[in-house]
Amino acid sequence: MRDFQPKTIIEPFRIRSVEPVHFTTRAQREAALQAAGYNPFLLRADDVLIDLLTDSGTGAMSSRQWAGMIASDESYAGASSFYRFEAAVRDITGFKHVIPTHQGRAAENILFTTIAKPGDVIPNNTHFDTTRAHVEHSGAEARDLVIAEGRQPRLIHPFKGNMNIDALEETIRTVGRERIPAIMLTVTNNSGGGQPVSMANVRAVSAVARQHGIPFLIDACRFAENSWFIKMREEGYADKTPMEIAKELFSYADGCTMSAKKDGMANIGGFLAVNDDDLAAQCRNLEILTEGFPTYGGMAGYDLEAIAQGLYEALDENYLRYRIRSIAYLGDRLIEAGVPIVQPTGGHAVYLDARAMLPHIAPTQYPAWSLNNALYLIGGVRGVEIGTVMFGMQPDGTELPASMDLVRLAFPRRTYTQSHVDYLAEVILEVFAQRAELPPYKIVYQAPVLRHFTIRLAPITS
Ligand code: F0G
Repeated sequence: MRDFQPKTIIEPFRIRSVEPVHFTTRAQREAALQAAGYNPFLLRADDVLIDLLTDSGTGAMSSRQWAGMIASDESYAGASSFYRFEAAVRDITGFKHVIPTHQGRAAENILFTTIAKPGDVIPNNTHFDTTRAHVEHSGAEARDLVIAEGRQPRLIHPFKGNMNIDALEETIRTVGRERIPAIMLTVTNNSGGGQPVSMANVRAVSAVARQHGIPFLIDACRFAENSWFIKMREEGYADKTPMEIAKELFSYADGCTMSAKKDGMANIGGFLAVNDDDLAAQCRNLEILTEGFPTYGGMAGYDLEAIAQGLYEALDENYLRYRIRSIAYLGDRLIEAGVPIVQPTGGHAVYLDARAMLPHIAPTQYPAWSLNNALYLIGGVRGVEIGTVMFGMQPDGTELPASMDLVRLAFPRRTYTQSHVDYLAEVILEVFAQRAELPPYKIVYQAPVLRHFTIRLAPITS
């Protein structure tokens, strides 16, 4: 018999523990959304059917992760769980000092409190919202230098997360090396559509950083997904394993911040890892103040175990093939039906281009917010606005349209099946058919920073 090469990419797991999803009526969703101030962040999760708010901390863990958690060491100092965690992070990243934190933004807080001050500039391809907030909280400026292709939703380019090297050099020339405490690169570029960064670009950023003596740090949240894209799309990497690619990627940097809630496959946790001894010592001192002793850093021993195992599972080829394909599957169905989305589809999410879909709603009347709310009302689906509500507020209190108005539908890892995705496609196509009826929104209440989490809005009905 001849060998069989199946075309169907299946979920590389079977399910042994299940959790019910929650069905609601249209009337119940109308009431829930109104009570939440038209802010899906303020909904009760029980009122959501398919929850694509985030891929962060929402994934399913493996039996091996649970086994590690049962066998964890909860000692305050020097727990064996910490040493397993440290060994895994060191094995994959190669960084010398591993500083555990309760999640990614805690690593950002420790890092930027330590290295940044007013007048400084931090270049990044695109800062994620918490990263930007921590940079700005330190008084420094967060500067986004993604390539021009990365700002054009429907332009096809294999590595739309790449940094513009000319713009980086120009920034160093005009700002001055001494006012740039670090250069960052976010892999994949979450706020820019989950788009990957090429190894060539990582190498180029690293070369510029080294030439000027500036530390180069990676925001590594989705390092495994980025490694898979390099394997699929970059010349010379097809025969390398995701682990080999990840190791090479980290080898060009001086450190990283990590939210283990993404490619750590855990429900909570993160770390800061650096090579520099002095920086590590300063960060550990601050960590004791804000997170806890440096061998647990705000996590339980069992969280450290879950991450030590999860980091390896995220690099498994069968997992990554299924992961990236399941997102492209939804993207393909939407593109076929003419729904404007960011292309090519990213690593962890499909991003709907609300500005293109809803030309009757001005960016300052929040088209992506309106689209996201319609997905909930029609189908019980919760995504997140990545647009003018999230990024429009300027440090001086004025508002500008964000560079794009997107709805991100982020897929929790190993959680939803293909029929959930088929249902999702049906909901999106129904909203697309009714798009002319979607209302603009106005803000009723907002907080001064990270306003999207607690903002309250109201539809403008004329
Ligand atoms: N950096 C990136 C690129 C992120 O996507 C996130 C979180 C963080 C840093 C902060 O990590 O949440 O553990 O404190 N992103 C989540 C999301 C919240 O929904 O994309 P955290």
